Amino acid sequence: MNVARFSRIGFILAAAGSAVGLGNIWKFPYMTGESGGGAFVLIYLLTITFIGLSLFIAEVIMGKASRNDAVSTFEELAPRNKGLWKYAGFMIFTGMLILSFYLIVIGWILKYVFLSFTTLPSSGDAAGALFGGMISSDAFTQFAFFNLAFFITIWIVTRGIKKGIERVNLILMPILILILVALFFYAMSLDGFGKALEFLFLPNWDKIDATIILKAVGHAFFTLSLGMGTIMTYAASLPKEANIAKASASVAILDTAIALIAGVVIFSFMFNAGQNPAGGPGLVFISLPTVFASFGSLGNIFAISFFVALAFAGITSAVSIIEPTVLYMTSRFKYSRFKALLILGTITYILGVMALFSNVKDYASYLTFGGKGFFDILDFTSSSILLPLGGIIISIFVGFVMQKERVYSLLKESMSKNVFNLWYYCVKYLTPVAILIVMINKIFY
Ligand code: PFF
Repeated sequence: MNVARFSRIGFILAAAGSAVGLGNIWKFPYMTGESGGGAFVLIYLLTITFIGLSLFIAEVIMGKASRNDAVSTFEELAPRNKGLWKYAGFMIFTGMLILSFYLIVIGWILKYVFLSFTTLPSSGDAAGALFGGMISSDAFTQFAFFNLAFFITIWIVTRGIKKGIERVNLILMPILILILVALFFYAMSLDGFGKALEFLFLPNWDKIDATIILKAVGHAFFTLSLGMGTIMTYAASLPKEANIAKASASVAILDTAIALIAGVVIFSFMFNAGQNPAGGPGLVFISLPTVFASFGSLGNIFAISFFVALAFAGITSAVSIIEPTVLYMTSRFKYSRFKALLILGTITYILGVMALFSNVKDYASYLTFGGKGFFDILDFTSSSILLPLGGIIISIFVGFVMQKERVYSLLKESMSKNVFNLWYYCVKYLTPVAILIVMINKIFY
């Protein structure tokens, strides 16, 4: 077994680095926009509070108890049927589906870093045309920046967990938060601000259907990096004395706060400019550059810092997506990190290239299946199906398979008996039942 040791703050930084990423700033606003706003946000917040946080803690105790890769964790901690439970650990492979489209989006962001040195588009239409043009017709640019994102990520992972991630996080996360907070204060002075708050926080139930509920639940998993063993893997490096509940809650609160701030900022700008909130995956790339453009050359500096920080937030998450499979291969099969990455990287790369070309209009028809492009298929299958399924498995494992006394002994130092009972109830019953209901609803209605 070859997990490195984190310092206490190191775990929080790495877990936060994993959680805070494109999910918060790119995906949350655009999904909210497409799903009509408030009701989506409410379901997302409820899922984070009652399901996400409990599962986060569940993953942490599993990792901390076994101090091993995710597959071995299930095998080791199961009192019976170890051989069978080991297969639950294969949830780590969901990461390859996620990473392949995630790297494409990091590629878009890297492209926007370069673009931020030039004159930014000053109207929504110009920004929309620029982004739309890149996605649907400029395969070369997208491909080049996808490669850059791919190689940066692989390079960081070959350097190992601790050194690579902790250092990068320590500098860039605060920069990203500072820029978002500055933009938030600016947004407060705009007419669009009130409309944005209304859009995000007034639930409009007529917009809600089974697909949107499933998407909100799936997104809560995605944003907290749950349901595929990432948090479990990082927790394997947690020092013994760490306060699990506090660490988990800090990460969940930070992650949610960043998504909400990003949402308010982006929608304030959109409404102010009279743009359509349901603009899809291009939302961040269309609304923000126009605002930066209105600040003149100061705006270029803002834009460069924002996209650089966002790229790094994405890269620290990308690293965490691939880390569970790397740890599995290096500790179980004694592969070198390089060999593990060669195998995982090749598969991810192929899936990524297919997803990338599925958005490009000349190739889209070859890469569209059942009316859905390959990019969307990867996103939907991983976030809305596989992560929630992983969540059900983890909750059943901690709630029914591991002995309650064992679970309690891992948590008793970080929560009172009453809080423990509440948490245990959420993990054991609420989580699997709620996710199942949502999924069944989606299938039948
Ligand atoms: N939580 C990341 C984000 O919000 O961007 C994405 C992610 C990271 C998903 C790690 C899953 C994962 F295991």
